[in-house]
Amino acid sequence: MSVAKKQYKRITTKSLVDMKSNGEKIAMLTAYDYTMAKIVDGAGIDVILVGDSASNVMAGHETTLPITLDQMIYHAASVVRGIERSLVVVDLPFGSYQSDPKEALRSAIRIMKESGGHAVKLEGGKEIKESIKRILNAGIPVMGHLGLTPQSIYKFGTYTVRAKEEEEAEKLKSDALLLEKLGCFAMVLEKVPAKLAKEVSESVSIPVIGIGAGNGVDGQVLVTHDMLGMTHEFNPRFLRRYLDLHEEMTNAFKSYMQDVKSLDFPSDEEQY
Ligand code: KIV
Repeated sequence: MSVAKKQYKRITTKSLVDMKSNGEKIAMLTAYDYTMAKIVDGAGIDVILVGDSASNVMAGHETTLPITLDQMIYHAASVVRGIERSLVVVDLPFGSYQSDPKEALRSAIRIMKESGGHAVKLEGGKEIKESIKRILNAGIPVMGHLGLTPQSIYKFGTYTVRAKEEEEAEKLKSDALLLEKLGCFAMVLEKVPAKLAKEVSESVSIPVIGIGAGNGVDGQVLVTHDMLGMTHEFNPRFLRRYLDLHEEMTNAFKSYMQDVKSLDFPSDEEQY
């Protein structure tokens, strides 16, 4: 059992800040449904992210843009029913917080009330400052997300590493300080140079959780379907696969098919 599993009965936003102070790394994974959430929570993962990556891995869209607030609430409520200990953070989807702070707050309130999630995550820095402030003022914990922000993919035009140039790196550093100052409890840093991510993590007191951001940050997040090897077509350098479920599942489906067609299944013991 990990130190955190022994020490924290339930993970809260404060536990994460304490973990950073104590030098204990934070483990975060995505989940979008009850069964997966129950397994991830049972394994002792600190934070479950109901990511808008559900748009890709659950719904098969090319980007995260199409997923709606109602769909995010459905996924988040299913995850919450499966957990006992993990902190559940829910992505505010594209279009639910960018146009004005009042709408951002309404969207965050719907997530908290209708799903039972514990916090929300928003992509961006200075541009969405007023929305973050309004959500925080209502008592809703906010996780920030800087670097590669997939909801802006059509602005970037590519999923390659962000903030390699000085100007973008400076903006990222000032956005990180701003998120801390506003009162965010943590932030995700996606696909930025490891040296920059380490610098950002050392400049703020709140946890910085990286994905493709090296090992100098305070924790790591991966998309569960990717780390389980269910998504074969997605191969970024930062992804470590812990299983090849694509192959395992394919073999299981083939065995089942063979058993059905050969009348081996169900056997005498498998019927009433
Ligand atoms: O939606 C998501 O899964 C995310 C992670 C990649 C951080 O935002």
